[in-house]
Amino acid sequence: MSKKASASPKVVNRLVVIGLGLIGSSLAVAARQRGFANQVIGISRRQSTLEIALKNGIVDRCAESLGQIAAELGEGDIVVIAVPTLSVPSVLEESVSQLSPNVTITDVASVKDSVVKAAQSLFGEMPPQLVPGHPIAGSEKSGVTAANGDLFTNHRVILTPVEATAVGHLKRATDLWEATGALVSIMSVLEHDQILAATSHLPHFLAYSLVDTLAGMSDKTDIFRYAAGGFRDFTRIAASDPVMWRDIALANKDSIIEVMDRIMENFKAMRCAIESGDRQYLMDLFTRARDARNHFGKILESKTPDTGIHSPMTEKVIDYIVSPGGSACGDIRVPGDKSMSHRSIMLGSLAEGMTEVTGFLEGEDSLATLQAFRDMGVDIEGPNEGRVVIHGVGLHGLQTPSKPLYLGNSGTSMRLLSGLMAGQTFDVELRGDASLSGRPMGRVATPLREMGAVIETDADGTPPLRIKGGQKLSSINYLMPMASAQVKSCVLLAGLYAEGETSTVEPAPTRDHTERMLRGFGYQVNSDGSKASLSGGGSLMATRIDVPADISSAAFFMVAAAIVPGSDITLRHVGVNPTRIGVINILRQMGTHIELSNHIEVGGEPVADIRVRYAPLKGIVIPEDQVPLAIDEFPVLFVAAACAQGTTLLTGAEELRVKESDRIQSMADGLVTLGIDAQATVDGIRIQGGQLGSGEVASFDDHRIAMAFTIAALRANGKIRVKETNNVATSFPDFISLAQQIGIGIEIAAAEAQ
Ligand code: S3P
Repeated sequence: MSKKASASPKVVNRLVVIGLGLIGSSLAVAARQRGFANQVIGISRRQSTLEIALKNGIVDRCAESLGQIAAELGEGDIVVIAVPTLSVPSVLEESVSQLSPNVTITDVASVKDSVVKAAQSLFGEMPPQLVPGHPIAGSEKSGVTAANGDLFTNHRVILTPVEATAVGHLKRATDLWEATGALVSIMSVLEHDQILAATSHLPHFLAYSLVDTLAGMSDKTDIFRYAAGGFRDFTRIAASDPVMWRDIALANKDSIIEVMDRIMENFKAMRCAIESGDRQYLMDLFTRARDARNHFGKILESKTPDTGIHSPMTEKVIDYIVSPGGSACGDIRVPGDKSMSHRSIMLGSLAEGMTEVTGFLEGEDSLATLQAFRDMGVDIEGPNEGRVVIHGVGLHGLQTPSKPLYLGNSGTSMRLLSGLMAGQTFDVELRGDASLSGRPMGRVATPLREMGAVIETDADGTPPLRIKGGQKLSSINYLMPMASAQVKSCVLLAGLYAEGETSTVEPAPTRDHTERMLRGFGYQVNSDGSKASLSGGGSLMATRIDVPADISSAAFFMVAAAIVPGSDITLRHVGVNPTRIGVINILRQMGTHIELSNHIEVGGEPVADIRVRYAPLKGIVIPEDQVPLAIDEFPVLFVAAACAQGTTLLTGAEELRVKESDRIQSMADGLVTLGIDAQATVDGIRIQGGQLGSGEVASFDDHRIAMAFTIAALRANGKIRVKETNNVATSFPDFISLAQQIGIGIEIAAAEAQ
């Protein structure tokens, strides 16, 4: 063993590994190198394997069968069945019958349904001690000589407990895998098998099939000699272990056949298109696939900055470590406005003709909207350095998506789309990630139902949203109970499909990008004070859209300059729509020097350069009319308040509790951790300015919380570790490089296992 055992806590007493192939022996050697088991015992029928395992320090002890050691094992011990998939049932039978129910049993087979079914048929029900598992790690090398103690580091391990699985055993299996450095996910058996069939099994079978087909072309024996990089990349996995893949093919039959049928259909259609010279079909297919690949690739790259691992199963969780004493100086342009980027895709898709968008935000949220419209058959080129070309299909040209539309973390995508989907002829389901799945959707479902839409939510009004197509929508005059641009936009967008005039009346002014952009697409929208209205039945004409920089992203650097003495920063070409400039108004009231220059109007939206210079800040009572105008900027404004002299009081901001996280509580918790007196109230917060300390703060899977605490570190008296910051990519993909460029000392570190 080359690495020394570290002083890791012991998460298991004895670790027994049955089967010392690549996975089993790598787990054993990880346990020895990291020191998380008191003893590592290897079991293999092959004497030669056991000898190598002992000689190479992979195990402490060996046995030829479980029977030799079963009586010794009890509470705290874990047996890992690491034999080929089809051999699992016989080993399982032997294990359950010989072991005490206190011993945890888990397996590593790549298919989970066959393991669960085998256990049920052997024992009548799933033994509570059995935790089905699957590490998503591997290599083309196999056997005990390929053992690698780092094989699981930052890779996913999926556990698929069933109802009968005991909590204690699940915890032991989770602890075991986390101690190897793996990231553990829990999911259902069916979900696991379907996902793996599509993302792992099918690619292997395609690679095997391609190599086999070419190798069988006897008239072209030496074609491999001319094979280029593409062939090598594509077929690398055809060098994997045939026994393992035979077993997987048979064990995951149903899910694999389902996805094989789909790919054969796609392939057949491609063949026809080639035969008949259908250039358009081929162009559409290749463009769609290339863009989808780029989309996934970008997300993966931004989430795995230094691993080079390209698999959603190996997404690496990252923290930021930010040093105090940095500055905010320079001249920069932050990425495009998120709200306008979403709307540009939606309206461009529904317009007639080709819309060109520049300055588009390539963040995960707006990319989710883009992908949703591709899923509904819209041909969208890019994004390529912020340029997107949308081949609009008209208000009635969307096609039925073949699966639920997945909108990730993006509330704007879901709420605005719900309005548009209510007017379609087809059924659709809208889904999101864990955070979005907990956010209120009743606020859009209620007015849409009043218009005649048929929408189902979960019992508590949260996603998924199931929207039934083919409903006749009637117009309404909706008095909005809360100041929300998403609700207003949802109703107005549904109004495009309703008969008569649809209007909204808002309790306070909210961002009006929907109204302005609709006008840019030639659609008449009337705004009269708090009322906005439009009539259904018109059409949108394609246009050009230049998305300005997002003031919500600029806000982080505005506050950075506002809190660090000597700072002087200019933010270029920022959208300064009057419904978005609460952050400017509030910071000015607190004492910051802010100047706007180079005012222009772009596509109906005011744009300017913003220069921010440091001046001492004082606490203020934030006027309630500023709340909707600064709604997304409060996390970082709370940081300004923490650095101000005196108390800052916010009221009338209960909406902050239903954002990507409960932003009042998330910020109060973090500020208190850093030594600031911050008291959350029902509808706001009271913050007493003081000295920010160092420490670790959670980001609650919320991009704006993560970035706000990064800025806070500038004025802290030591480093701040902001935990789990991957989510920053939803709205601000270049945040780190821009932060570094203006003088913030920020490093990325792998998150510590929980
Ligand atoms: C948005 C409206 C706001 C804002 C969100 C984007 C929009 O949400 O917080 O980030 O693009 O319409 P609410 O409508 O819920 O206030």
